[in-house]
Amino acid sequence: MTVYARVIGTGGYLPAEIKTNEDISKTVDTSDSWIFERTGITSRRIAAAHETASSMAEIAARQAIEMAAIAAEEIDLIIVATGTPDNVYPSTGCMLQHRLGIKKCVAFDIQAACSGSIFGLDMANQYIKSGAAKTVLVVGAEICSRIVDWTDRGTCILFGDGAGAVLLQAAEQEGILSTHIHSDGRFEDLLKCPNPQALGEPDVAGYISMKGNEVFKVAVNTLGRIVDETLAANNMQKSDIDWLVPHQANIRIIAATAKKLKMSMDHVVVTLQEQGNTSSASVLLAFNEAVRDGRIQRGHVVLLEAFGAGFTWGSALIRY
Ligand code: UT7
Repeated sequence: MTVYARVIGTGGYLPAEIKTNEDISKTVDTSDSWIFERTGITSRRIAAAHETASSMAEIAARQAIEMAAIAAEEIDLIIVATGTPDNVYPSTGCMLQHRLGIKKCVAFDIQAACSGSIFGLDMANQYIKSGAAKTVLVVGAEICSRIVDWTDRGTCILFGDGAGAVLLQAAEQEGILSTHIHSDGRFEDLLKCPNPQALGEPDVAGYISMKGNEVFKVAVNTLGRIVDETLAANNMQKSDIDWLVPHQANIRIIAATAKKLKMSMDHVVVTLQEQGNTSSASVLLAFNEAVRDGRIQRGHVVLLEAFGAGFTWGSALIRY
């Protein structure tokens, strides 16, 4: 019997504060029209002072657990993807385990920047297919606003805060059909966020820096290739995909991937207009939104994909 990792619940959380393009244009030399035309973003959410990656992860996770109608104790593995953990250690996964009141399960973090949730789905799939775990919670949670340099107009316009969650369980019915993940560590200088303390360089700014235009070109080409790889691995045609759920970095990158799939934008889940780029949370936030509003229905084939620092990139093909 083939065992699949089937989606049994999804969740998402966005902080209350809305920061508009107009707000940003009061502090750096930019404009609402420039940001919207170049990125598709009009506003993003900003976490309150008391919020952290683990507090946001908890809300998203509880929603997923509620939708799945399982007891939290049934979860035997928690994977949290984050580049903005509450602590270096304990992991945000362990903090989330405690917040959810789960005494016996394994929990840890993974770090693959904006591709984090796809890497998390890949790991969850491997654990479930091998029989090592039965019920796995994957969360992407980010407080990007705290690692953004709010004086850098090339990056501060892009990022936002939030958390997305998905619960997967071993099942006979189809679920994750395949995952594909990749890394290429040569591109540190194009996109990074250093950790000054660990580097022993306290004067280095621990903020995101990016050569946006160069990242843009690599992202478009790489995501085109991952689409081909995913379709070929599943012996599927472009027309077999019902929904594209992309990482929400830039509407022009998303549109290029949709074009590659010959897919109308009506079948692409876009959340970045009011969320910006929430890094590892973005794909799961978008997936949750389209599941909850009924666009994604049982039986639909959904292609999730992401690209981020590292570089890292990947896809997950899911029959919902
Ligand atoms: O999620 C992880 C992966 N990240 C991404 O995929 C992000 C990929 N990159 C991007 O989304 C885009 O490159 C940006 C939105 C960051 C920038 O858009 P762009 O079309 O690539 O612009 P650019 O960097 O080539 O800059 C064009 C011009 C420059 O001025 P000059 O040199 O032509 O005079 C910039 O200085 O736009 C200027 N510029 C701005 N102007 C107004 C850069 N940022 C801004 C700004 N407002 N915020």
